Amino acid sequence: MTSQNVVLVTCATGNLGPHVVRRLQERGATVRALVLEGDPGVAKLPEGVELFHGDLADPASLDAALDGVDGVFWMWPFFTLPVDTAPAVLKKIEAQARRIVLVSSVGVHIGLERVDNNCHAYLEELIEETGLDWTFLRTTGFMANALGFAGQIRGDGVVRFPYGAATRTSVHEADLAAVGVEALLTDGHAGKKYLVTGPEALSQEEQVHIIGEALGRTLGWQDVEHEAARSAMVDSGWPPSYADGALDYFAVLTKENEVGSTVVEDVTGRPARTFRQWVDEHVEAFR
Ligand SMILES: NC(=O)c1ccc[n+]([C@@H]2O[C@H](COP(=O)([O-])OP(=O)(O)OC[C@H]3O[C@@H](n4cnc5c(N)ncnc54)[C@H](OP(=O)(O)O)[C@@H]3O)[C@@H](O)[C@H]2O)c1
Repeated sequence: MTSQNVVLVTCATGNLGPHVVRRLQERGATVRALVLEGDPGVAKLPEGVELFHGDLADPASLDAALDGVDGVFWMWPFFTLPVDTAPAVLKKIEAQARRIVLVSSVGVHIGLERVDNNCHAYLEELIEETGLDWTFLRTTGFMANALGFAGQIRGDGVVRFPYGAATRTSVHEADLAAVGVEALLTDGHAGKKYLVTGPEALSQEEQVHIIGEALGRTLGWQDVEHEAARSAMVDSGWPPSYADGALDYFAVLTKENEVGSTVVEDVTGRPARTFRQWVDEHVEAFR
């Protein structure tokens, strides 16, 4: 590890953030977590993390959290916050930090996400214009996305969702965190656009089958038609362009496997965790 060891993690209380905080602590960094005031998710964070209240919608509110940092693990809450304030937030990061890791998306890797969609490709472009040492984590879907099936599994055990045959090389959040932490704390990762994936391609239906095995129950799958799924996603708050992108991508993945990589093992020196490992860690959420 080099001398840059004060790291700020944004979106620290989400699915990924607590893994990042823990991993940074294990590797000896001083860790700051940016949290919204009143966020009950702070209970998920380990002891010893320094909490800073701040809102990505209000760049000035980040000043204290960024003061004196060496690196930033940057996530943006796309579903709830437009990117309007991202350039100003990045300027503040650039004024303090030397390194930045961005959680980007496989959608950029395969050319599905465009810069004008104001999502991950847009943030990558902004960062490339800075003088920061940057690393992009172009990740596939998180294994934690399966928690979205938990209510239906706890109910009648039939998951109703579009494109059950779509394959995913979903990544364990702890593995994604570990790759990002290496990039922040060790040399040799600047300018890398890492495609971060899990070790196996599983259809969504196969993922549900594995959850059933862990529960000792037979679970079912029922495909929801594309248009009905789109309406439900938009009604639940998805920006329409993101819903279209996700559904079109799922349709493609019924015909070809999602891309895979060995980045987790290459960067961390340990094999990527399987979906079954993830399920064993989270099985109580599905009972
Ligand atoms: N999930 C995937 O499959 C996937 C795939 C590719 C890329 N990604 C990227 O990974 C990122 C992290 O995903 P995740 O699943 O960990 O996210 P998440 O669980 O949705 O967490 C979002 C976090 O952002 C915080 N937040 C919301 N609005 C904020 C604001 N205005 N200022 C500061 N913090 C705010 C939330 O706090 P509250 O809980 O208090 O609202 C929460 O801690 C995503 O944003 C996305 O860019 C995800």
